Amino acid sequence: MEKVLLALGLTAVLAVSSSSQYKIDRVTGRQRFNEWKAKHGKSYLSNVEEESRFKIYLENLGKILQLNEEYKGRTKFIDNHFADISEKEFRKTVLMPKRTAPKFPRERYLTRAVRDTLPVQFNWTTQGVVTPVKDQGAAGTCWAFSTIENLEGQWAMKGKPLTSLSVEQVVDCDGTGDPVLGHGDCGVFGGWPYLAYQYIKKAGGIESEESYPYCAGGGGAPGTCEVCPPPGYNNTLCGPPVWFCNMTVSCGHKYNPAKFVPGLKVADWKAIPENETIIAEALMSVGPLSIALNAEMLQFYHSGVFNPIFCSPENLDHAVLLVGFGTHKGWFETEDYWLVKNSWGPKWGEKGYFRILRGKGKCGVNTQVTTAVLE
Ligand SMILES: *[C@@H]1O[C@H](CO)[C@@H](O)[C@H](O)[C@H]1NC(C)=O
Ligand SMILES: *[C@@H]1O[C@H](CO)[C@@H](O)[C@H](O)[C@H]1NC(C)=O
Ligand SMILES: *[C@@H]1O[C@H](CO)[C@@H](O)[C@H](O)[C@H]1NC(C)=O
Ligand SMILES: *[C@@H]1O[C@H](CO)[C@@H](O)[C@H](O)[C@H]1NC(C)=O
Repeated sequence: MEKVLLALGLTAVLAVSSSSQYKIDRVTGRQRFNEWKAKHGKSYLSNVEEESRFKIYLENLGKILQLNEEYKGRTKFIDNHFADISEKEFRKTVLMPKRTAPKFPRERYLTRAVRDTLPVQFNWTTQGVVTPVKDQGAAGTCWAFSTIENLEGQWAMKGKPLTSLSVEQVVDCDGTGDPVLGHGDCGVFGGWPYLAYQYIKKAGGIESEESYPYCAGGGGAPGTCEVCPPPGYNNTLCGPPVWFCNMTVSCGHKYNPAKFVPGLKVADWKAIPENETIIAEALMSVGPLSIALNAEMLQFYHSGVFNPIFCSPENLDHAVLLVGFGTHKGWFETEDYWLVKNSWGPKWGEKGYFRILRGKGKCGVNTQVTTAVLE
């Protein structure tokens, strides 16, 4: 009874709240912005830019307050390192263009692993098959991270030493297209793990992160590079290429098969059916899996089980790595979740990870589950 009354009370508060209460006064806002800049090591080239970033920051802060009230602590949102870019910029520079998950022929799917019951929770992060959290920066390269992290897991599952593999090789060199399903790998403009496995298979291997390090995340800012479109880049599938790139950092200059990690070869790839029980079984028997989802609402995620009210499962725009699952018991609800490794740095979310509702096809999280099969 008490629970019901409390729940009603909270609904009432939400109903009367108007958006005006989420406005932050400029003096408080300015102070917070300065603290935030110091914390995230941000600086801007001009006063004009600083002022426009401050304005976006204030708007975002209002949104974050509103989200925290709407989600009542079940999911927490925070002014993280994405707090000075608008939702539109976030979609354009960090996420990929929205796409519906391709459906594959039946024989592409893994058949069910036999298992009586699933454990209450499961977590690959403590098993030595998951590398530290990486940071893609301001580039739509999540698909290459998701692919490579699946590969890192598959390599370690074979008893090999856990090794960070080259995301940049895939970003620079993989222009695989799939005219039948209308998808392509497009460097910093997005791509698909299922195509990237095919590229690595065809290339005959992959270099390590150490020999071919990631540099695409800053568009030529210090310590980053202006990557060129991969060979085979298809304008029809990918849209117009970058208007300038630096040939000395392209695939043609850097790619070196002599430096491939010895013995690491992709033989094939498999997809996992959409049934989330089967996905959990596959996760346990196969290892960390590449997945994709609609991540529009993840920009300010801080902690908790991500369960946005509106999140179209048809509009995938981010690829990540599925590493575990569990059940969260809150005051009002019990929620099954997936544990997911992101590529937005270790300071984002729950130490670089997030949790998302499991069992309801949330944000399309179950629609593009794939893995490489190694030789
Ligand atoms: C998974 O394991 C890591 C490392 O021990 C731990 O920090 C994290 O809380 C675990 N996550 C879940 C959801 O079990
Ligand atoms: C690019 O993609 C389009 C659309 O799928 C396809 O018709 C065309 O053949 C591709 N071009 C090349 C050069 O592969
Ligand atoms: C191209 O990249 C190289 C290597 O990072 C750098 O030394 C050079 O200055 C860059 N050239 C241009 C025109 O930006
Ligand atoms: C998912 O698969 C499990 C195990 O085969 C089965 O019990 C369950 O009914 C399936 N769920 C749906 C929604 O098809």
